[in-house]
Amino acid sequence: MRANAGFLFAFILLLGSCSQKTGPDIVSLDSGWKFRTGDNLSWSTPAFDDSGWSTIDPKQTWEKQGYKKYDGFGWYRFKVVIPSFLREKAYIKDSIIFRLGKIDDCDQVFLNGALIGENGMTMKANSLPSADFNKIWGKWNLDRKYVLAADDPRVQWDKENVIAVRCFDFSGPGGMFSQPFEIAMIDLKDLIQIDFSGSAFVFEGDSIIRKDIVIKNLSDKNEFKGNLIIRAIRSDNSASLYLEKTGIDLTGGLTIDKQISFNTSFNRPVSLFVSFTESESGKQICDTVEVPRILTPKAPKEPRITGSKVFGVRPWSPFLFKVSATGTAPLKYTAMDCPPGLKMDEMTGVITGVLKKKGEHQVKLKVENQYGKSERYLKIVVGDLLSLTPPLGWNSWNCWGLSVSDEKVRQSANAMKSSSLIDHGWTYINIDDGWEDTRDKDGNILTNSKFTDMKALCDYVHSLGLKIGIYSSPGRKTCGGYEGSYGFEEKDVQRYALWGIDYLKYDWCSYGDIAPNPTLEQLKHPYLVMKRALRQVNRDIHYSLCQYGMGEVWTWGADVDGNSWRTTGDIEDTWESLSTIGFSQNNCSPYSAPGRWNDADMLVVGRVGWGPSLHYTRLTPEEQYTHITLWSLLASPLLIGCDLKQLDPFTLNLLTNDEVLAVNQDPLGKQAIQVKRTNDYEIWVKDLEDGTKAVGLFNKTLKPLYVPVDLKDLSLQGKLRMRDLWTQTDLGLVSGHFEMKAFAHGARLIILGHQD
Ligand code: GLA
Repeated sequence: MRANAGFLFAFILLLGSCSQKTGPDIVSLDSGWKFRTGDNLSWSTPAFDDSGWSTIDPKQTWEKQGYKKYDGFGWYRFKVVIPSFLREKAYIKDSIIFRLGKIDDCDQVFLNGALIGENGMTMKANSLPSADFNKIWGKWNLDRKYVLAADDPRVQWDKENVIAVRCFDFSGPGGMFSQPFEIAMIDLKDLIQIDFSGSAFVFEGDSIIRKDIVIKNLSDKNEFKGNLIIRAIRSDNSASLYLEKTGIDLTGGLTIDKQISFNTSFNRPVSLFVSFTESESGKQICDTVEVPRILTPKAPKEPRITGSKVFGVRPWSPFLFKVSATGTAPLKYTAMDCPPGLKMDEMTGVITGVLKKKGEHQVKLKVENQYGKSERYLKIVVGDLLSLTPPLGWNSWNCWGLSVSDEKVRQSANAMKSSSLIDHGWTYINIDDGWEDTRDKDGNILTNSKFTDMKALCDYVHSLGLKIGIYSSPGRKTCGGYEGSYGFEEKDVQRYALWGIDYLKYDWCSYGDIAPNPTLEQLKHPYLVMKRALRQVNRDIHYSLCQYGMGEVWTWGADVDGNSWRTTGDIEDTWESLSTIGFSQNNCSPYSAPGRWNDADMLVVGRVGWGPSLHYTRLTPEEQYTHITLWSLLASPLLIGCDLKQLDPFTLNLLTNDEVLAVNQDPLGKQAIQVKRTNDYEIWVKDLEDGTKAVGLFNKTLKPLYVPVDLKDLSLQGKLRMRDLWTQTDLGLVSGHFEMKAFAHGARLIILGHQD
């Protein structure tokens, strides 16, 4: 492995060091918390005796500390002396801040019995807690920072203060987590915000990158003068691409919007660094962001057929398959030797009809435009199995959470088409939790006011050449507290078929109330009930099991007829979540097969949020390359979890690499296996139908790394052709041992094959 230390040092010097001095002392609230489940407002009072309560680590949710699967109320208490020297030593003396990590899902925070914060908002003096807890979904990811005036009577200087946190968890992990947990006087870093998140990077022509950077003074009374430095630097050769130094005067409440642009090759690594040094105190705040590298080449003008090469359908089921292709419009689609019963729409590439007999058909597809033509075979398998390649689509959960609506689903479907994702094989538009209402007198499930006409919505999505999915739970309630299917499975599926649903995500959720300590049989039971219901309707509905991997579902998901099954709990847009899930999928690998997919959960790229307000994923661009590379190798369903209406150029580029997607869609249906795992890197290998191997090299460190590859570890020998899939370039021949550079938390995806 080559040493990068010299280069890194030079890079840090060039960026300029950012001291991020915190200034005044802090009072740590890291350890010493008491906890109990349940709810009682008297637990907010300072005098309450909590000596019988358990201890808890606020940095981890309660699920991780002995309260597995506990949803509902939980209280935390902490006793702390707030010393007045904090105030005396502080640079800004007027406000004190309570930083309480994050809270899943909702919170009310009391200081000495008085309410100071609720769901992330500081509460004015004399605010009363609503007896009925203000349950707001979607706040779990919000930093809890409550700011009080230093002379607020709720603060007891130099005396013992009692902080009491009342939490409510809807489902999944609950309570306090993340960090920091501390009390401090407010500091420059709390008041000046350098924000890259308001807009995406824009790539213009062949080499211009534009970006808006917002610098905000969050204080309405304090004014800060100082120097702003903005730099863009190539992180592989330290070349300076942009440098701006300006004196700025941030008066109270001011927002400065800086628009910068610089020239560089889009596939090179660049860091953007911003610092503000306040003149009077010399204090500095800074932030840095990785400029996304654009790796996927533009699709050529000539047609190129993309997407799945094999399609499974049951006899007599309505047939719907859209041939996807890139190339300049208009494209003309032809299907040669189409079996009787099917017809191809020449303009849209949509094949419809019915096939009545089991069997296989090879259909030769042709797509033409003014620049040329592309031909490819599509294998149609009329039989028992659906989804012979992993589903490619979108799901509403990671963006909209329970705030999903008909309008948002339509917008996503429209964007799937207008963004060109549809041309790369992306097919499903899946509605997750949040569409359900109660039932009518005959037991039919009703949609809530956000979905006025589900049938019309399904028709609309189909009219675009897309398919549509829905969500339910085998329990009485879904995870979001909506009506589940328990006892109404057949009725529900009949409705789905009537509406035209093509995909069902069936999420365990409250089934735990029916089977609290489920045996394997009880784990399978509700999924078998739904299987029977699904098999009774004349419609192919992809059956997606969601029960977080319980009872090693990958070993029996096929027995209950699942087409895919979630192998893990819910993903989040962090490296910790992504890498923990992604790199722990080796056990399930042998169970992956056409129509039977291990589902590593939905994608967390683009603008996500699990509720009405969205943010750009917290994954760095290189981490996103790891995400798509790994999920493709895992042959996991790929369900985009962001708002498609707000797709930025990088995310679109990331999701439209046909050679990468072809690894996911490979008809052999094998999942990659982990052939090498060290603290620093991993290598995963996926066998492909044509006898070649797709190889993923993953750098788990925070520095660029040359990942060493020994072909014998991949069960390969001799001279092999190597192709880089992200850049779609041939890299020549390799043999024996070689190294490939991957950036921090980044990945390489290559194909290795014998010379023809
Ligand atoms: C569970 C699932 C998520 C999502 C929500 C909906 O948490 O794992 O993917 O479907 O329920 O409430």
